[in-house]
Amino acid sequence: MEITVAITGASGTIYAHRTLQLLAESGVVETINLIMSGTAATVAQVETGVNLKDPTPARLNEWLGLDPASKLIRYWRLDNLAAKPSSGSNKQAGMIIVPCSMGTLGAIASGAGTNLIHRAADVCLKEGRKLVIVPRETPLNAIHLENMLRLSHAGARILPASPGFYHRPKSIDELVEHLCFRILDQFDIPHSKKSQWTGEEVSGEE
Ligand SMILES: Cc1cc2nc3c(=O)[nH]c(=O)nc-3n(C[C@H](O)[C@H](O)[C@H](O)COP(=O)(O)O)c2cc1C
Repeated sequence: MEITVAITGASGTIYAHRTLQLLAESGVVETINLIMSGTAATVAQVETGVNLKDPTPARLNEWLGLDPASKLIRYWRLDNLAAKPSSGSNKQAGMIIVPCSMGTLGAIASGAGTNLIHRAADVCLKEGRKLVIVPRETPLNAIHLENMLRLSHAGARILPASPGFYHRPKSIDELVEHLCFRILDQFDIPHSKKSQWTGEEVSGEE
């Protein structure tokens, strides 16, 4: 399976990091087209201290804990509008934008994108491929909400970065992972399923 992952300048680099690791561990993903906005690197530096500006394959593999020789991640520059994910003729499962800023969300919702993230997302919508958007902002204004509705009507899956607590997370990693599992579920990509609700968690029924 080939999939595109975009990281934008919303808070939550940790979600992108874990999602990429889970995709790598899944055993079914052969290629991840990775695109990052400029502000994504700034947020990553602020939140995790990692330098993701103009990353080399080796630096990305190190960041994700992958084999240094791994070819799983294919990094595309934001201004490369001739990149693979910018064409509908490139058959891939779809795209995840995690985390997604309101800026990127608005650009895609308007249909007037200017960079590779916007273009790749637009291609997914026009080709009827899965586009999973993980927005992060709070509070949301009417423009944000209308943009999300617009994208939902166009076929995108809006999966807000709002983790649940019903699985009793004991760490931030568990909290984050629970949300990342939900992202993988959108593509039926296997994971440990630790977070799956079985109905047996609440006593008193049947
Ligand atoms: C540390 C930091 C945290 C930010 N957090 C958010 C956020 O959670 N949501 C959001 O929509 N924008 C956030 N922003 C603002 C966006 O990065 C900014 O609007 C940027 O222009 C988005 O561009 P991009 O979508 O191309 O990444 C944050 C910026 C910084 C520097």
